[in-house]
Amino acid sequence: MRSTMSHNGEMKAPPPGAEMYTRAGRSTYLRINLDFLYNNISILKQQCSPHTADVIAVVKANAYGHGSVEISRYLESRGVGHFAVATPEEGAQLRQAGIKGHIQILGNAVEEDIPTLVNNRLTPTVAELNFLQEWSRAITADPVSSNNAGNDTISSNKVTDSHALQARVRKRHQLVLKIDTGMSRNGCQTQDFPSLIQFCQTQGLTVHSVMTHFSQAWDNPHFTKQQLNTFTTLVEPLRTSGVKVHVANSAAIIRGFGTQLDFIRPGICMYGLPPDASTETAELVESLGLRPVLSWCARPTLIKQLPQGRVVGYDNTYMTRGTETIATFSLGYADGYNRLMSDRGVVSLDEDDVRCPVVGRVSMDAITVRLDQPRPSPTTFNIITDDFTSPNSVTKMAAILGTIPYEVTTSLAARLPRVFMSGGHIVAVTKSLMTDER
Ligand SMILES: Cc1ncc(COP(=O)(O)O)c(C=O)c1O
Repeated sequence: MRSTMSHNGEMKAPPPGAEMYTRAGRSTYLRINLDFLYNNISILKQQCSPHTADVIAVVKANAYGHGSVEISRYLESRGVGHFAVATPEEGAQLRQAGIKGHIQILGNAVEEDIPTLVNNRLTPTVAELNFLQEWSRAITADPVSSNNAGNDTISSNKVTDSHALQARVRKRHQLVLKIDTGMSRNGCQTQDFPSLIQFCQTQGLTVHSVMTHFSQAWDNPHFTKQQLNTFTTLVEPLRTSGVKVHVANSAAIIRGFGTQLDFIRPGICMYGLPPDASTETAELVESLGLRPVLSWCARPTLIKQLPQGRVVGYDNTYMTRGTETIATFSLGYADGYNRLMSDRGVVSLDEDDVRCPVVGRVSMDAITVRLDQPRPSPTTFNIITDDFTSPNSVTKMAAILGTIPYEVTTSLAARLPRVFMSGGHIVAVTKSLMTDER
């Protein structure tokens, strides 16, 4: 249930006023609470050993729908130095937005990625020797004197000695080796790891770190331990020579797997959401003090009094039962409000815990909602709340849809404006992936 006091004791932000809509340029926007984001990271770090050097903030898929550029800028300003995205293009987007830190591309590295990787100083996740050979050739040929992205551009007139130059090239371009310890998706087979590491050593390539990924850290401790054992057996000898290692996603961090290693890689819990849609998981995540970073606000663009017997929306799935107040919100499945929420979703008002059902089909650009009573059109409704238990929380929506919280937020469209808040103030607004305004 929503409370007026947050877990860290701050008063809840007042209901958003007209300024939010003006800045968003639309009758709907996502409100992103950066203070919660930072607080969530602090909570996750507290689960780890003090030796864990840094967080690799997983900001792929537009930071799980939250807006990767602003999320990364904010985190970088708060001292986070490592980011992970899925594709080279996502990494290039962050570089172009001025992110200086280490950016790892989590997807299996393939040859066609190489130009984007090298030009943007992005770190590939490597599982194959063929790729490594091609990439190694490309970084050697990298015109290091050119003005590549990043904060450590090398000037050839300053570096005259070719060995020193080569060394700097190799330091500038780093790679992560990934071992498949049982998930059978990305990463090299365990028996291939020695030849990969040997190639890196003989070629003098900079291995930023070695990683693996758990398939079921939340609810399969036996299998997760097996994965961890396989991993540590392979990498332990390397750690003494300074190679860094990491394994822990959100579920592993909370369950305590791999939290004594060099990095953690939180995604979903950093955004204050549980890794599955069950009530028990949500309660556990909530009990740690994590808070959902995202909420979705909207106000009606039209409100009508309709008599009994009127059908509402495509396919006439809903008919008014009496005189009803039907509000149209200009948002739909093209914004990420799933069509399967038709006749199942609710939107809410903070005051008095009012909940109003979505009636009729969710259209591409509109939903229709039966209001409890006529209300002034500037009234702000929550399409998604920032708690765990309301029927319109991310968690409950995922449960209704038979999916996981990840899918609910990553489905939020780029065209939805995102309003970023910190200390009760708007600190940034994004209106699409490509434009931003401060
Ligand atoms: C390799 C890797 N590490 C970390 C994460 C973050 O996972 P989570 O969002 O469950 O914390 C992901 C997400 O899919 C991933 O693919």
